[in-house]
Amino acid sequence: MQVIIRPTQDDASRLAARLIAKAVRASPGLVLGLATGRTMERLYALLAAMHRDEGLDFSLCRTFNLDEYVGLPPSHESSYRYYMDEHLFRHINIDPRNTHLPDGMATDLAAECWRYEEVIAGNGGIDLQLLGIGRAGHIGFNEPLSALRSRTRDKSLTPVTIAENSTLFKDPSTMPRRALTMGVGTILECKRLILLVTGGSKAPVLAKAVEGPVTSMISASAIQLHPSCTVIADEDAAEDLQEKDYYRWIFENEPEWEEFRRESPR
Ligand code: F6R
Repeated sequence: MQVIIRPTQDDASRLAARLIAKAVRASPGLVLGLATGRTMERLYALLAAMHRDEGLDFSLCRTFNLDEYVGLPPSHESSYRYYMDEHLFRHINIDPRNTHLPDGMATDLAAECWRYEEVIAGNGGIDLQLLGIGRAGHIGFNEPLSALRSRTRDKSLTPVTIAENSTLFKDPSTMPRRALTMGVGTILECKRLILLVTGGSKAPVLAKAVEGPVTSMISASAIQLHPSCTVIADEDAAEDLQEKDYYRWIFENEPEWEEFRRESPR
């Protein structure tokens, strides 16, 4: 794992956007795993701007989102399909048929989860998966005690997650209590992971995930098992990390980060 600390939320989002853009340019048919939430909004705005101003081409990309609420149709403004259309898909040249989310309206949720796993496998697996972290330590909606080998499934949300996400609903009481989510095992099979974390409220949980023991109590700690994982944090989110100086040294000195040390045009 590599941890990269950037001064601000904007710097962290820019670095994540540049890494994704580099991967798309190197491999136009990239299979990209996506996340939703507040953290990703700036990153998606940057990717949309790169498409508009620099011609970043998503026409051959395929995308798979981590999760979707059970019981929300795509037209619901708090569904993750709606979020993705609003924040990214309608601003770039991706073919909508190549954008995938689990169907939270499916009558047979277990069958839908198997179907989703099969479509991912049928596309050759996910090349690059973007992750955020919740205060409950989840990645996707893998709440505490999610098996480290879990697959896409129907998951009950914790009170912490409900309190955090219900504020995004016009009527917070209508937030679904369940979601379909890729499993920790599904995520660990992705070829590369990027975890983007910003804001001081995430500092305690980020420290547990990155420097604490691997435990199903903090699903995000499973990223320690992945051979190619980059964590990008802003200073506020990095506050509780013990090895900050080491992580800073890596970004300032390792040749692989040289091109990213220079300012991007945006
Ligand atoms: C959503 C997802 C979640 C979020 C996490 C952080 O698709 O995968 O794990 O990344 O809950 O959400 P924000 O960014 O709103 O704090």
